[in-house]
Formats: sequence, C-alpha cells, structure tokens
Amino acid sequence: MSHDHNIPNGFSVRDGYLFCEAMSAENLAERFATPLYIYSQAAITDAFTEWTAAFDGTDHLICFAVKANSNIAVLKLLASLGSGFDIVSGGELQRVLAAGGDPGKVVFSGVGKSAEEIELAITSGIRCFNVESAPELALIEKTATRLNKVAPISIRLNPDVDAKTHPYISTGLKENKFGVNSEMAKTLYHIALESDALLPVGIDCHIGSQLTEIEPFRDSVKHLKDLVLDLRSSGIELQHVDIGGGLGIQYRDENIPSAQALITAVREQLDDLSLELMIEPGRSIVGNAGALLTRVMVVKEGETKHFAVVDAAMNDLLRPALYSAWQTIVEASPGAGQPQVYDVVGPVCETGDFLGKDRELSIVEGDLLAVLGAGAYSFTMSSNYNSRPRAAEVLVNDTEAHVIRKRERVEDLWADECLPEHIGGCLNAD
Ligand code: LLP
Repeated sequence: MSHDHNIPNGFSVRDGYLFCEAMSAENLAERFATPLYIYSQAAITDAFTEWTAAFDGTDHLICFAVKANSNIAVLKLLASLGSGFDIVSGGELQRVLAAGGDPGKVVFSGVGKSAEEIELAITSGIRCFNVESAPELALIEKTATRLNKVAPISIRLNPDVDAKTHPYISTGLKENKFGVNSEMAKTLYHIALESDALLPVGIDCHIGSQLTEIEPFRDSVKHLKDLVLDLRSSGIELQHVDIGGGLGIQYRDENIPSAQALITAVREQLDDLSLELMIEPGRSIVGNAGALLTRVMVVKEGETKHFAVVDAAMNDLLRPALYSAWQTIVEASPGAGQPQVYDVVGPVCETGDFLGKDRELSIVEGDLLAVLGAGAYSFTMSSNYNSRPRAAEVLVNDTEAHVIRKRERVEDLWADECLPEHIGGCLNAD
C-alpha cells in the first residue's frame, strides 16, 4: 500500500496492513464480510474531547448533529461523554432517546417540522426548537398551547454569508431555504415574547458544512452578536448563542483549522455577552473516525480506463456520486498487482456510481480496499437502491470489534411490501 496518504487518527498502517485501532482491516472484513463500515471508538472520543477542551472554562453545550452518524451505539458513546444532540426529525429524537441521551440537551433544527414531531419534542422536554420560519413558530405555539406547555425557542438567523463550500451544503446565503433575516428574527422574538406558550431562550445559525476557514464563522457570529445586543436593548434576554456546526475535516489536502482555533475566534467576539455557547458539530466528530471496507470483485480493462469494480456502491456511500466528493481509497494490505490508475466503481447500474476516480492502486481481484473519511454522512445516507441490503457497522475498541448494526438481509427489503388480491395476494398479508 502506498504511504503518501494521510491516515486519520484511530487508523494506522503496519507493514502495509491497514489497522483500525488494534484490529486489522483484513481480519474485520473476514469476520464480518464486506461492504463493512468500521469506526474507531478512540477516534470518536478524541474528537469529542478536542471540542470539550476548546470550550474549557466557559459555559457550553456540544450538540452532536445526529444526521452525520445516527447509529445508536455511536449516540450512546457520545451521550456518555456528555454530548447533547442536534436533531432534524422525530426519528432522530427517538434515536437519541433510545440511546439514553438527555432530551434536555437536544436542539431541534430543520425547515419542516410536523405537528407530530413538535408534539414529541415538547413532551420529551427538549432544550429548544431552532425555529426557521413564521409559520413554524405559529405551529409550535399552537401545539404547546394545546399541550398546556411552554416551548423554548431559538430563531435561526440566516446571516447571508458565503461559507465557501459545495453549493449543496451551503446554508447561510439569503437564497438558501434556511433561517430568517434579522428583521424577521426580531419580529419572531417579539411574537414569542408576547406568547404564553413560547419562551425565547437562544439564537442560532448554521451556515454550511465542510468549512475550511474560520472567516465565515467570524462573519456569522458577528451578525448573531449584533442581533443579541439589539434584542437586549428591546428587553429580550437570551440564555445561549448556538453557532451551528460545519467545521470541516481533512479528506485530501484541505488545511482545516482546529476546534480550538475556531472557538478561540468565536469567544473573542462572544465572551462579553456572558451567554452559554452552543455548537452543533457532526462531521468533525465522526467523519475521520470511520472507513468503508470493500473488496475488489472484478478488474476490468475498459478501452480508455481501468476499472476496479468493488462490492460497495453509491447506495452504500453516496458522497462521491452526489457531490463529486473526494475520499481517500487505500489498499488494506500490500498490493499484489502492478500499480495502475483505476476508477473505483460499484456494481450499481449508473455511470455516477463511483467511489473514486483516477486512483493509483496495486490490486488484483479479491483485494480489500478501505474508503477513508467514511464516518459522517456515509452510512446515514445509504439506501437500498438496486435492492442492495445495507452494510453492517462495527465499532472497534482496541482489540475488540462489536457489531453495532447487523448486515441487512435481502428479505428485510420486502418485509413491508404487500401483494393485493387481484395480482395474486399473500406476500406479507396480515
Ligand atoms: N446543524 C445543522 C442545522 C445542520 O444542518 C448540519 C448539517 C449540522 C449542524 C452539522 O454540520 P457538520 O458539522 O456535520 O458540518 N451530506 C453532506 C453534509 C450535509 C450537512 C447538512 N447539515 C455531506 O456528505 O457532505
């Protein structure tokens, strides 16, 4: 295996063999089959601890963005480290509760919350709703009134700053569907102030994901601060400022500021407000703690390209197909083949089904590859396209490997499908 790749914390290469903590990738693939997601418990713990250390000495809450990796074992591990959670659906809330997470440390983001989701969140006693529109605020008020409760709210500010990231994951520009401008935010805070069913407790924003610079954070935090001061002058006192998530990870050669550098910059601006600081990191906690193991099924010589057809596909890992995202692919053991430049593709019937293009590998059929940086937005974005059962997930803790999600079985895929009488009946009929 070539050594010119950055191997993330939790992983290492010994004599050409890839290890996750003390377990070799080959051993894991043999035991649990492929495609297989593997996560380093130590890497998740270290990344969370780095955020905690960055906030040292100040009142804060780290709310892990569940959408990045929602496996209940991962959530439970983070809850045990003191993490709160940023959720965007009732389903994510139920996962947090199933993991034993503290609802009092949950913030609920997202532009479309249903009445049922709002009710579940209120009755569970979440920390606050991150409100994204006037109609949403009205629905929360109506639901809280019906339940005879008071709903804590924060308004999500859209600061109109350029996060300089992929357009699909940029969320803080005025043309994006997220948040409201500061005029609307003020209106909504005043509505909340007047209401017996709403309690303004915070302010939040989230400008995008995979950010590689501190500057856009600085910009958005300035807008948050201006609004907090403006609200103060009109008698609205908040308890927290939530700066959202978004700090990137190194997938290739990006130069990512540390959590410490980001929080130092944020605190320079916000400390004199004396409010609790909140943050919603997802990718930076789990992204580089995971890898997707996949075997080479076929080495195919095309007319102009060499293809490594592997047993993982866009249904397992969508990021390359959806965002042209680059993720490092390494051989899990010393390559037996001649070095060659390959497109690493899956078996799905779409040209967009690739995990990596133009990668130099020394492989033969049957070799094991690892796609790195696959701990965030990887399993959670997987699907059953082409009737492919979803991969298993394994949490590695030193010399131990624990299955935290069993491989889906093909029968699972049609367990909820039914055959009406007029076309034969029977399948899964009650
Ligand atoms: N808070 C809110 C309101 C969010 O929408 C997100 C991510 C986060 C926090 C966490 O952001 P992070 O720290 O993970 O960057 N599927 C895409 C990423 C989508 C991010 C969506 N929102 C990808 O694979 O790159």
